[in-house]
Amino acid sequence: MSVIKVHDKTFETFLSEETIQKRVKELAAAINNDYKSKRPLFIGVLNGAFMFAADLFKHVEVDAEICFIKLVSYHGTKSTGKVVTSIGLMEDVFGRDVILVEDIVDTGKTLHEFLPTLLHQQPASLKIAALLHKPEATIHPLAIDYLAFSIPDKFVVGYGLDYDGLGRNLKEIYQLV
Ligand code: IMP
Repeated sequence: MSVIKVHDKTFETFLSEETIQKRVKELAAAINNDYKSKRPLFIGVLNGAFMFAADLFKHVEVDAEICFIKLVSYHGTKSTGKVVTSIGLMEDVFGRDVILVEDIVDTGKTLHEFLPTLLHQQPASLKIAALLHKPEATIHPLAIDYLAFSIPDKFVVGYGLDYDGLGRNLKEIYQLV
């Protein structure tokens, strides 16, 4: 177990690189199975999902496309509740099989606010892939189709997730002590 400091806070190892990579491969295998003869459009949500989306996408074996959007909704260690699309969706979603890729579903507010916008564009199907989910923090329940890990309601950093800008480059996921 390793302990690190990010800004003023102490974090300890929670999910190892090996554990994460194994699970990401399993999710990709499920997607490969579900999207045979389809051409899904992955939409990664920046910034947090960039690493998960990249690793997941590497193991996708069906023809697939990927693009990224940015929804700013979070500062520090608490949800602000404000969702702002700062990088818009350039891809045409109409009639596409969309897989939205999120880093973490915490209260569910971000996706709850964004999904109607996406559905308005009439994708053929819409599924959600998330690296992490904190069931205890749920305010807006939502079905996650491809979930890597369900975790306790504690702040985490690493593997794309940050604490005030830092920690995204860590290969493992660390939990606040
Ligand atoms: P929600 O709208 O409450 O579901 O929050 C989703 C967003 O909050 C995620 O996409 C993350 O950017 C951020 N977030 C929530 N929990 C954590 C955490 O434990 N560490 C880092 N970011 C988090």
